[in-house]
Parts: sequence; structure tokens; C-alpha cells
Amino acid sequence: MSRTLIANIGLLVTNDAAHDGTPLGIIHDAALLINDGMIEWVGDNSEAPKSDVEDSVDARGNCVIPGFVDSHNHLVFAGDRSAEFSARMQGEKYQAGGINYTVKQTRSASTAELRANTARLLEEARKSGTTTIEIKSGYGLTVEDEVRSIEVAATFTDETTFLGAHIVPSEFANSPDDYVALVTGPMIDGVRSKAKWIDVFSDRGAFNPDQTRRILAAGIAKGLKPRLHANQLEQGQGIAIGVEFDVASVDHISHFNDSDISLLAGSKTVATFLPGAEFSTRTAYPDARPMLNAGITVALASDCNPGSSFTNNIPFIIALAVREMFFTPEQALWSATAGGAAALRREDIGVLASNKSADFSILSSPSYIHLAYRPGVHQIEQVWRNGSRIN
Ligand code: NIG
Ligand code: FE
Repeated sequence: MSRTLIANIGLLVTNDAAHDGTPLGIIHDAALLINDGMIEWVGDNSEAPKSDVEDSVDARGNCVIPGFVDSHNHLVFAGDRSAEFSARMQGEKYQAGGINYTVKQTRSASTAELRANTARLLEEARKSGTTTIEIKSGYGLTVEDEVRSIEVAATFTDETTFLGAHIVPSEFANSPDDYVALVTGPMIDGVRSKAKWIDVFSDRGAFNPDQTRRILAAGIAKGLKPRLHANQLEQGQGIAIGVEFDVASVDHISHFNDSDISLLAGSKTVATFLPGAEFSTRTAYPDARPMLNAGITVALASDCNPGSSFTNNIPFIIALAVREMFFTPEQALWSATAGGAAALRREDIGVLASNKSADFSILSSPSYIHLAYRPGVHQIEQVWRNGSRIN
């Protein structure tokens, strides 16, 4: 048994509403006890257990928050698209077709190079407080390259997503249905032992509603769990299809209407916003309030990828959500932690309560509000995962 006490926490965010009747479940002047990778106890600092505590860490009155759960990322790729970003900042529009550039670079990269790129991006994410990360394939788009992308992803996380349906690769430009047949047949068969989820980029220039349904159905039939890229580029049927298939989450949702809101409100599907994409593609940020006010479970994620959002910094995403999308700081923090866990249908993470995974960060600031109030300032002092310090 190895017990560690985190003491003198000025403000502890537990995401356990039992403490104060709010979703963040705040305890002031708190302490947290870890036992074998799990939370054993949270409560008042003055009541912290003292016996059998091997180690004690002084949070010096600062804020402790649950680890970020970043539920949407494309980390397995090679190459650089900074010139495309620069062109956009001078007026070019973002198009799904840019994915093909990264596909070319990824196919010609060695597996060691892909693994090293992914490891570097993960290390960055960890330093900014991310303790659980989802990683998609989707820049290979041949059976062989999708299998090795998923294998690379699986060396870093259990939350692996097969995104063979990212775009129709150039060699299938004139026969998209042949590509859908490849995805729904040999590709799913190749990745299914290592992939947990299946995703489709259901949008203009990518996959249409009929193709989206066929691909999701094939994945589900072979044991994968569905999630979806929906309504990033235009108001389409993505959210409705997501609810129809009971996907864990519809992601991007830069466009949505009243019917989408009522569909989501009557479902278990999480609505995940990815404001890094609006930032990097210079498109209008959606106002999240209609979703939040309808009681829909909302998540925030970084969408780290070389084309539309090359950031893995969740504090930056929180700042964007608060400043540009009308989240309160409380809603943004909840969405990036418990919301991300819900988007991955996980109950063991995202909450600091007994028998949950001891995944949390100690900030160098007195309040989580500083994450949005002081954008761009590094405030993640220590990161703990499964009860061990990882940064
Ligand atoms: O989530 N939208 C689709 N996929 C990525 C962008 C991929 C790219 O441009 O390389 C996204 O934004
Ligand atoms: Fe994405």
C-alpha cells in the first residue's frame, strides 16, 4: 500500500456535485489522499488522514483540478502545414482536401518517425495537464498505413480511433464507393484488434450521409464503438446521424440548429466543441449557450492535427471557449475534464472522488478561473496520473 497525501489545497475541484451542489464540486482548504493509483479520500485539509501516509505534497494554497481528458486528436502523422496556415491568415479558406497533403507525408514516413512525432506531441499535452488522450488514425488511408497508424496510437493510449473515413484519398477520387468498400471491409478487419472507436468525417468534401451511415454500421457490426466528426464545415445531417447511431460524441458542431439541439437533448450523445479549429481556420466560433442551456452534456477537446488545429494545449482551449463561445469558466473546466470523460464513455476518470483514478494537476494559481483569465501563461505546476507524478 502506498498512500500519498496532497495537502493545503486552497481550492479543490472534484467534479462531484455532492460537495457543494454545483457541477464542479468545490472544496476550499482541502486535501486529497491517493492509495495505489486511486483516490481514497477527499475532504477538509483539517480532517486529512495522517496515519500510514508515506508521502505528503504541499499544494501551498493553490488550486487542484482533475486531469484534462482530451477526447479528440489526430496525432499520428508526418510533415508540416504551416504554409497552409499562413495562407489562411492571408485570406485562403480551409478545405478538407488539405488532409491529402499530410496523407502523402505520412505514407512515406517510417513507423519510428510516426512514433517519435506522436510521443513528442503527447509529451507536450501531458505538460499542459492532459492525463487521458484519444488518438485517431486517418492520415494513412491504405490498409497497411491505417493499421500501422492505429498500432502507433495503441502504444500510447487505450482510446484509439479508426478514422479510415477521414477523406477519400486522391487515388480513389473517381471511385469513392470503392474506397468506402475498402474502409468497411479490409481496413476495419485490419485495425479492429487495436482500435476501440470508429469515426467518420461526415462533412462537405469528405463523406456524405449515406456513406457515413454505411461506415458506422460496418464498424459497429465488427465491434467498434462509434463517434463522429459532424457539422464542422456546414450545417448538415451529422448530428442527426450521430444520435441515430447513439455515438458517444458528435465533434466540432460548428453549425447546429434547433432540431439538432432537441435531438441531442433526448440522447446520451455528448456535444464536443473544438475551438482550436475555429481559431486556426479563422471561422466563426459557435455560441455554445443553446447547447449548455438545453442540459446537453458538453465536452471541449483540442483536435490536435496538422491542418485545422495544431495545438494540444487544453488551457488555451478553455480560454477560447470562455472568451469566444460564452462558456463560463466553470462550464469550460467541467467540459474539458468530466465532459471529455463522458465523450469517451468513461466513469473511472474526470472526477476526483474515492475509487476514481488519481489523475489531477496542481496549478501555480489560486483558482481555475486563471486558466482563462491569464491566457498563454503556463500554470500547470504538477501533473499526476494513476497516482504518480508524470510532470
Ligand atoms: O478534425 N475535420 C477533419 N479532420 C481534422 C482536420 C484534418 C486536417 O486538416 O488535416 C479536424 O479538424
Ligand atoms: Fe478531428
